[in-house]
Amino acid sequence: MIPSRTGTRRPRIRRLVWLVALMLVSGAVLLILPQPPTIEGDERPTHLERLWFHFTGTQPAKAPDVVYVPTPQPVVDRMLELAELKPDDVLYDLGCGDGRFVVTAARRYGVRAVGVDINPQRVVDSRRNAKRAGVESLVTIKQADIFELDISDATVVTLYLLPELNVRLMPKLARLQPGARILSFEFDMRGALPETVLEIPTTNRSDPYRVFRWIVPWQPEPVPPPASGPPSRGR
Ligand SMILES: C[S@@+](CC[C@H](N)C(=O)[O-])C[C@H]1O[C@@H](n2cnc3c(N)ncnc32)[C@H](O)[C@@H]1O
Repeated sequence: MIPSRTGTRRPRIRRLVWLVALMLVSGAVLLILPQPPTIEGDERPTHLERLWFHFTGTQPAKAPDVVYVPTPQPVVDRMLELAELKPDDVLYDLGCGDGRFVVTAARRYGVRAVGVDINPQRVVDSRRNAKRAGVESLVTIKQADIFELDISDATVVTLYLLPELNVRLMPKLARLQPGARILSFEFDMRGALPETVLEIPTTNRSDPYRVFRWIVPWQPEPVPPPASGPPSRGR
């Protein structure tokens, strides 16, 4: 008997329906599940939240001045040791990313900490991480531009930005109360002599990580002598 055309098509259609259903279900699961954590206790926005940001146009008021790259957690730990935190300190992390500085400071040292980021997705990350670590009462996360923000109550400031952004922040940082500590991962602050430069060996690259510390009021950096050109030839 010659099989009819519809007879071979039905199982194929059924398989197609199953395939589409499977894709829809796995898509729905992906939307609901959070992305895998990148640090201990960290959670990224779920895909659903990402879609929400996308469709509601929840974008930074202004483009971030530097992209998000987290400070390695062992470096965060060393920087907070170097900050010599005391219970009445108030730590600000300017451009707080996933909130690792503020969460670690609050959890380990019990200090008040303020994280500021211009990117609403980073604000969601930070608030969630503070909640998961049980330090919401000590941690405040603000969505703001660090160049527009009042940081006058900060006694410790942590930075992982760019050299030119550190320099732009100098007028604000210079007005902090005497004794305030400023710590920067990787980048210096041209014109301000660091009180300490800490090198942290790493296997991730050939040169060590560097951490700079300034204490307000900092010493100005000696101006380097002008580069001498090649000796001019007499006539
Ligand atoms: C290199 S990441 C550092 C994140 C975090 N401090 C850390 O060390 O893990 C810089 C962060 O600064 C934020 N940022 C960039 N420009 C900013 C601005 N003008 N105001 C507030 N946050 C800003 C970015 O969204 C990003 O999360």
